[in-house]
This record gives sequence, C-alpha cells and structure tokens, in this order.
Amino acid sequence: MPAYAVLGAHWGDEGKGKVIDYLAENATVVARYSGGNNAGHTVMNDYGTFSFHLVPSGVCWPHTQNVIGNGVVVDPDVLLDEIKMVRNAGLPGNVFVSDRAHVIMPYHVVLDRLEEERRGKDAIGTTGRGVGPAYVDKVGRQGIRIGELLDPEDLSLRLPDIIRFKNETITKLYGGEPVDADAIFEQTKRWGAELKPYIARSEDIVGSAIDGGENVILEGAQGALLDLDHGTYPFVTSSNSTVGGMLTGLGIGPRAFAGVTGVFKAYCTRVGAGPFPTELNEKDAHTIRNAGPVGEFGATTGRPRRIGWFDAVAGKYSVRVNGMDSMVVTRLDVLDGWESIKICVAYELNGVRTDRFPIESVLLGRCKPIYEEIPGWDGSTAGITRPEQLPVGAKRYINRLEELLGIQANMISTGPRRNESLELRPSIK
Ligand code: GDP
Ligand code: IMO
Ligand code: MG
Repeated sequence: MPAYAVLGAHWGDEGKGKVIDYLAENATVVARYSGGNNAGHTVMNDYGTFSFHLVPSGVCWPHTQNVIGNGVVVDPDVLLDEIKMVRNAGLPGNVFVSDRAHVIMPYHVVLDRLEEERRGKDAIGTTGRGVGPAYVDKVGRQGIRIGELLDPEDLSLRLPDIIRFKNETITKLYGGEPVDADAIFEQTKRWGAELKPYIARSEDIVGSAIDGGENVILEGAQGALLDLDHGTYPFVTSSNSTVGGMLTGLGIGPRAFAGVTGVFKAYCTRVGAGPFPTELNEKDAHTIRNAGPVGEFGATTGRPRRIGWFDAVAGKYSVRVNGMDSMVVTRLDVLDGWESIKICVAYELNGVRTDRFPIESVLLGRCKPIYEEIPGWDGSTAGITRPEQLPVGAKRYINRLEELLGIQANMISTGPRRNESLELRPSIK
C-alpha cells in the first residue's frame, strides 16, 4: 500500500516543497496531480535553494522519478526552463510529463490577465499564469494536450480554429490585442521537439511503482481551501487540490493509498483575494511576515502573503474533505518569541457560535473568529531536530492543534532547510 498523499491543508504555501524534499528520501516516485506553474514549492538543501513551479519536489534525490501527471496544466516554456535549471544545478532526479497534461497556451496567459482586469475590484488575485483559462479549455474540450505537440500535422488541423475563436474573444469581448497564430504554431513545434524526451504515460510510471510496492509521494499543489469544489469559491484555483484530484490527476485507484498527510503552517497565510477570518492587522502581520530566515512572500509572484492565526475550524474541515490521517506542522520557529498565541476554535456568525466551516464565501466573510489564547514559549525552536529540544510551550501548542484537528503530527518543521526537521513518527512506512 505505497501511495502517500502530502497536500496543503489551508490556502497553499504551507511548506509542501520543504516537507516533500525531506520525505522523498524514502520514495521512488514523486508525482504532481493538479494545478500548474501557479505553484511555487521552495526546497533548500545542499544543492541550493529552489522554487519549483512544475517539477516535483523529489528531484533532489537520485533514486526518484518526478512525474507531472495528466491533471496538471503545463506552460512548456516554464517546464523547459525548469528542467534546464534542474540539470544546471546537478539535481539528480528524473523528470517526466504526462502526454495528457494540458498545455497552457500563450492566449491563456493573455486571457487570465484580461479577465482579472475586467473583474476590477472583484478580481480573484490569480497568479496570472494562465492556469484558470487552460482548465476552462480542458473542460470545454478546446484544450491542447502535451502529447499533441509531438504531431504538428494533426495539431495544424485543430489549432487555427481554436486561435481564431480565442482572438475573437480577446479582441471583441475584452478589447485586447490578438495573438499571432503562426508564431504560436511554430512555438508548439519547438515545444514538441524539446519536450519529447520527457513525455511519458505517467500512469504507467506511477502504477508500476505502486504495483511493485515502491513508495510514491503524491505532491499537492495549492491547498484544500483553494480547491475548486471544496475551497472558498469563487476565490479558488481551477483544479482539485484535495485528495480526490490525485486519483483523476494521475490515474491511480483508491486502494493505493497508505496515508494522507496534511501540511499545516503553524499559523495561516493566504495570497490573493477571498475571505480569511483570522487575518491579522497589518502590524502583527508584518511581524510574522518578516520573522524567520525566509519571509512570507509568494514563491511564484513575490506578493506579500496575508497572515492570520491558526484557523482550526477551517483545519478540521480540511481534515474531513481530504480524509487526512496525519499532519506536518511547518514554520513553528516563526512563532518563537510570542508571549501568547491565538488559535481560532470557532466562529461567530450572525451572533451565533458555530464550529462548522461555512461553505459560502459570503458567509465565511462575515464570520468573526473566536479564539483560544495559549502561552507562547521561551527559547528558540529554529533548526531543532529532536523532541527533547522542543520547549514545553511549543509542545503544548502542537498537542492542542492535534486535539482540535483529531490527527497526530508526524513531523514538525523548524526551518526551511531539509535537515531542519523534527520527525516524531515516520510519515512513510
Ligand atoms: P509550498 O508552496 O507549500 O511548497 O510553500 P512555499 O515554498 O511557497 O512557502 C513556504 C515558505 O516557508 C518557503 O519560503 C520555505 O522555504 C519556508 N519554510 C518551509 N518550512 C519552514 C520552516 O519550518 N521554517 C521556516 N522558517 N521556513 C520554512
Ligand atoms: P502552492 O502550490 C498559494 C491562489 C492565487 C489566487 C487563487 C487563484 O505554492 O501552495 P490561480 O493563478 O491558480 O488561478 O489563482 O489561488 N494560488 C495560490 N496561493 N499557493 C499556491 O500554490 C497558489 N496557487 C494559486 O493567489 O488567490
Ligand atoms: Mg508555494
């Protein structure tokens, strides 16, 4: 039973890259199943510091095959640049991309921007990478798949009509500049030629590892509350970042699962628009944003992240919709030095206390957090690796999160580097 889900539990950027780089020592396949290069997964180890947008975070281990599954949308230029970077840095893992992953075309990036501009003050705050429009075309059966890049002749039969329609939309609906159909066709030919060695049937790679009893890590992108179905719609991303996305996004069956680990940050962050009940005032947010060795700025867009106290109501909901059976808590070191720390244990909605996470964003926006305040701790947790080094207050904080969420912490991350990890019990057996 060798597939281990490791996914974001709140609004993304929980430290999935750091955790997966650590855990991948014990896995032969690390596979992305959703999202695209809207993701930014930071990995720091002896090879250097990397922000992976498409390449899975196992690539720093020589024994790994790093698979970009069919559920991912891929900007070929970003992937090719990233593969080049991986090779230049001497990272030893192999990289494969599914022939059925959809391509983020140049017009998707244009449409992402134009649609955000059209929304004005109601913009989603997307990463602007064309991810939403690429999924729209996938669902609308107008998408181009990676495998098609290998056959320019066939593509030349489909692409002109698609681009004609896109240009009508761009110019007539949005008043934008049309894209150049010939230049895009040439670009697709180059992409096909350059990506050819990496294109594979990803379900075969993942499936044979599972059949052979090898450990596979299913790498989440974004977080449960950005999930298209379970997140704070419409302020979400356009794919299923929760556990269900792993089955369709890679072509695996449910019996393959051996564990579902949620990656939680010791507090909450969010980038982009949308309700965020525990959001801190700018002064406290600034303190947390700039504490620790790496500040809270988007790994993809560089935007400052919004900061809030740990939201256990949202957390419990995330445990449920993912069937999580364990968690990893990251960036604990960032909370060093706080006299007291708040945990949101319930909301007040229209004057009534509730511990249920409201599904409607409008309702969530009206929720006021009800906090439990617990003492902070003396001393530093930065870089600690053994349980006995954990200050009593920090231990109490973790235990309280475990109690509230009903799952145990397998690991606490105490710094951005691979070895700054305190493993309480193995996540991968
Ligand atoms: P991801 O998208 O979930 O992989 O997370 P990001 O990489 O976007 O953001 C997490 C940030 O926190 C990155 O800058 C990491 O280097 C950093 N990080 C991860 N774990 C820890 C930790 O335990 N302590 C500190 N201080 N930083 C961490
Ligand atoms: P990782 O994998 C945090 C957010 C955007 C925006 C919304 C929709 O690094 O955790 P999109 O470009 O997907 O259409 O934007 O989703 N978002 C993320 N926030 N971490 C991410 O990825 C994100 N990927 C998308 O900020 O609010
Ligand atoms: Mg990130």
